[in-house]
Amino acid sequence: MRTLLAAILALTVTSSFAAEAPIVIKFSHVVAVDTPKGKAADYFKKIAEERTKGRVKVEVYPNSQLYKDKEEMEALQLGAVQMLAPSLAKFGPLGVKEFEIFDLPYIFDSYAEVDKVMKGPIGAKLFTKLETKGIKALGFWENGFKNFSSNKPIRTPNDLRGMKIRIQSSKVLDEEMRTLGALPQVMAFSEVYQALQTGVVDGTELEPSNLYTSKAFEVQKHLTLTNHGFLGYAVIVNKTFWEGLPADIRATLTTAMNDSSTYANQIAKQETDKALAAIKASGKTTIYTPTAAERAAFRKALIPVHQKMSSRFGQDLLTEIYKETAFKPVE
Ligand code: LMR
Repeated sequence: MRTLLAAILALTVTSSFAAEAPIVIKFSHVVAVDTPKGKAADYFKKIAEERTKGRVKVEVYPNSQLYKDKEEMEALQLGAVQMLAPSLAKFGPLGVKEFEIFDLPYIFDSYAEVDKVMKGPIGAKLFTKLETKGIKALGFWENGFKNFSSNKPIRTPNDLRGMKIRIQSSKVLDEEMRTLGALPQVMAFSEVYQALQTGVVDGTELEPSNLYTSKAFEVQKHLTLTNHGFLGYAVIVNKTFWEGLPADIRATLTTAMNDSSTYANQIAKQETDKALAAIKASGKTTIYTPTAAERAAFRKALIPVHQKMSSRFGQDLLTEIYKETAFKPVE
């Protein structure tokens, strides 16, 4: 009898413990805590845990602590992590090539143009494309505009000829570099600093907060503010995990994510401006702002990439974006 009672007690304790065990969301990302994405991930953790009153625990793993770029995509599909915010340039290997349209040089001239596209029907349509891959997109987070850096001054498109430039795993970025006569090298973000330091690559096209927090600026003497490409993220979850959550939790997390996206997009510009100021203050990197004529020369050299790569995402999608942003091939 005593044994039976003990067994029942043990069972009760175990099941009530199981009922109270929080749902864990592992949120893996590849950049520093002190970046727009790092801050927004921490913000999501805070409000998600508060609003679910501890029923959800969000564990944020920054700086590729758990996985590098390509591995984290695989980990999400396998269910080893539940949430990521990869840049839109990293969805090609999943078979969702349309996201690479965001990598087109000079397709966006401002955050307002990006907003129009991502927060409208085009963004929604792109997000549904992920569902067939077992992935659900919950939000779109902005970061900023990328610039060329290297150890020699870059003033004209020709200056990039023959240079080895690190890129993210996007075929559009690959073509961008080839169009400039540069040699693209796909590389995980966590490897960039060392690759620059050891001369495996000569330069980058990073956005300021990543250039600063990764310390890559310390091994790049020159930064030219070409602002030639946009860097943004889709926050994604494993679809099976998401759909298996209790409905009330899913609803609370959806609102928490919407609020986190608003926060991310509010801080993005100020964070990148802050990083640029810090790079300048370090005195390690000379920052150059191209003249209008120099900017026009970069645009002229790079805009042909739009047509060269149009089969990757479809001319229709490109036309839709052009219409939304009132795109002009010549400014
Ligand atoms: C990069 O690889 O340069 C960026 O996508 C890193 C990031 O996540 O911002």
